[in-house]
Amino acid sequence: MELPPALRAAVDRAVSGRRAADLAAAAAALSERYRQERRDGRLHVASDDDALAYLAVRLPATYAAVRASFAAINQARRDFAPKTALDIGAGPGTALWAAVDCWPALADAVLVEASPVFRACGEALARETSVPRVTWRTADVATDTVDDAIGDAPRDLVTLAYVLNELAPDVRPRLLRRLWQATADTLVIVEPGTPAGWQRIIAARAELIQAGACLVAPCPHACACPLAPPDWCHFAARVARSRLHRLAKAAELSWEDEKFSYLAVSRRPASAAAARVIARPRKGSGRVTLKLCRQDGSAGEQLFSRRDGEVFKRAWRSDWGTAL
Ligand SMILES: C[S@@+](CC[C@H](N)C(=O)[O-])C[C@H]1O[C@@H](n2cnc3c(N)ncnc32)[C@H](O)[C@@H]1O
Repeated sequence: MELPPALRAAVDRAVSGRRAADLAAAAAALSERYRQERRDGRLHVASDDDALAYLAVRLPATYAAVRASFAAINQARRDFAPKTALDIGAGPGTALWAAVDCWPALADAVLVEASPVFRACGEALARETSVPRVTWRTADVATDTVDDAIGDAPRDLVTLAYVLNELAPDVRPRLLRRLWQATADTLVIVEPGTPAGWQRIIAARAELIQAGACLVAPCPHACACPLAPPDWCHFAARVARSRLHRLAKAAELSWEDEKFSYLAVSRRPASAAAARVIARPRKGSGRVTLKLCRQDGSAGEQLFSRRDGEVFKRAWRSDWGTAL
């Protein structure tokens, strides 16, 4: 997946003039903080260098994961066309860009962010979007200041992308309740595709089902998750690496796979898929094995061969994350 051209150009402008070696050093330090899931009371992005490193190496990946999650919602809810959005822990405004790419009628977005440098960077990028009204608010979502920032009017689309992992575990349930209250239609949570990220997603899933939410994606059922450690539910989005991205990461490949876990719930029921492909398909001559999570709450591998006719053709065309 490529960044939208306007975002790509805005990112390139923001980082132009920075030495690749400085970006690479800041990117390495940032990646290390994310990898360790360090929660030491300091925001990971606290300086201009941190913010620019994020733009160069993380934004393309989080954009791809959020955009892929939105595509799954789009498939399950053809009638969903959000006009208003709320993004919590907006960072450089990644979810805003993905939302307007998926739903061009988006007209009014509120973005809440704690880091002043990230907010400034996101505000500059957001001036290039086609969304007519974008409002930024500074708030710490771990405190009551988030209530004022969220406001009273529920929003069609509420997003929390790559944020739960930065919050203390005891903050999460209250924040989720507040976000569900603020959701007029659909709430989307995206996390890194690690076992720890998935644990946060299934905890949120249980709380939101309890609150009456309808599952939109990825689960084709509201039964208990059939996966058990060491297995975990995650997906992959292929991200095109720009030259800058490769330089900042000292990487040679022109792409990378961003692993992510996500959950989309709504106040309205979605059309339930029969199953979702939850691992990369294994293809052989005339046969394909899919790992499926099914509508009846079960999960497991299923072999499809040419003898299955049309069903085989659909299985062959499917990919990791496809709803069947
Ligand atoms: C990994 S970044 C994700 C940014 C963006 N959502 C994305 O997907 O690219 C996590 C964001 O959450 C913000 N954040 C972390 N703790 C926060 C808090 N207590 N209150 C508000 N924002 C917070 C960080 O400053 C950062 O912008």
